[in-house]
Amino acid sequence: MRDVAVIGVGLTKFGELWDRSFRQLIAEAGSKAILDAGIEGKDIDALYIGSMSSGRFVDQEHVGALVAEVSGFSHLHIPATRVEGACASGGLAVREGFLSIASGMNDIVIVGGIEKMNDVGGTAATETLATAADQEWEAFFGATFPGIYAMIATRHMHEYGTTREDLAHVAVKNHANGALNPYAQYQSPISLESVLRATMVAYPLGLMDCSPVSDGAASIVLCAADKAKKYTDKLVRIAASGQASDTLALHGRRDICTLDATVHASRMAYKQAKVTPKDIDFAEVHDCFTIAEICAIEDLGIVEKGQGGKAVQQGITTLNGSFPVNTSGGLKAKGHPVGATGVAQVVEATLQLRGDAGKRQVPDAKRGMAHNVGGSGATCVVHILEAM
Ligand code: COA
Repeated sequence: MRDVAVIGVGLTKFGELWDRSFRQLIAEAGSKAILDAGIEGKDIDALYIGSMSSGRFVDQEHVGALVAEVSGFSHLHIPATRVEGACASGGLAVREGFLSIASGMNDIVIVGGIEKMNDVGGTAATETLATAADQEWEAFFGATFPGIYAMIATRHMHEYGTTREDLAHVAVKNHANGALNPYAQYQSPISLESVLRATMVAYPLGLMDCSPVSDGAASIVLCAADKAKKYTDKLVRIAASGQASDTLALHGRRDICTLDATVHASRMAYKQAKVTPKDIDFAEVHDCFTIAEICAIEDLGIVEKGQGGKAVQQGITTLNGSFPVNTSGGLKAKGHPVGATGVAQVVEATLQLRGDAGKRQVPDAKRGMAHNVGGSGATCVVHILEAM
């Protein structure tokens, strides 16, 4: 396998973007990544785009070719492929781009992720997201993702003594980080009290325990590492790419507090990169709900199973802590345009490893991780990135 480097990154602001279309968002993120990489359109061998449900959110399918068209690549006739794995669609697109270069098939690939979720109302957005749950066993009976993650949270509280305050600390930390990120949907710090007093969505998850409904796009340019020096001095290598799957419905799982897909994808990635969690300096993890970040740091092996709540409460995962998590603000504060999320996580990891993360820079960051989950854990993709 060849080494693969990230040579360019681009993001739109995340949020309720009523004034911009699906096309405009992906064109903006893509052109920023191309400019950042210093390449031209004709240098690109292939395009991968992650999008979960553009058909339901904006009535647009056939997104691969559309993105090539709005990026001005139609006349180049490059292969343009859409990748779907619910909220892990972006991470899967990164992995497809990575594999296509690692295999020797391509030299330079552009990867994007997009979702425009606010054009439908809140109820339709919730129903669309629930298509990533098991229709026969979960969604048919009225289960939504806030409800499904609430079941994980109540079980975690029962098994390990995790409290609502532990969950709330995740939201407070991620909003504090989001306040330092000009691309974040929410850029205001929040208090513990405001999280605990927020409207209940599905006990024990209140409004502030949930990621929002978001619009946004992200893009990266990947290049064979041996050719990447031509474009940039700040090389960031994708040291590993792990992917795993599990049952769609929670009831089929060995343990609903553990996302085995995360366990397997991360173990695959650690093995490939020849590292352990102790060798990682920071992580962007999939905090679609506060409980999801607690499960993620446990299942990634950053803390012992059951200790995630305490670790967050002790400040281990803050920007100045021993293991910063979600420096971007995470899905909670940066926003969660589902198809874009996995790509945006790699953008943040790259900025950190290049020393370009501004006020939220982790000092001496050498190695970072991006963890992207689809549904309640049926799909998981983990990437490990290193400064070269
Ligand atoms: N975090 C912080 N603030 C939020 C928020 C969130 N998750 N969601 C909405 N808000 C804010 C809005 O900005 C708005 O503020 P304003 O009045 O100052 O403008 C206010 O809360 C009400 O917003 P509204 O859009 O009416 O909220 P809602 O009740 O329709 O939706 C949730 C709230 C939590 C139900 C919705 O954000 C949601 O479904 N989140 C989960 C998304 C999801 O499941 N993703 C996939 C995960 S697997």
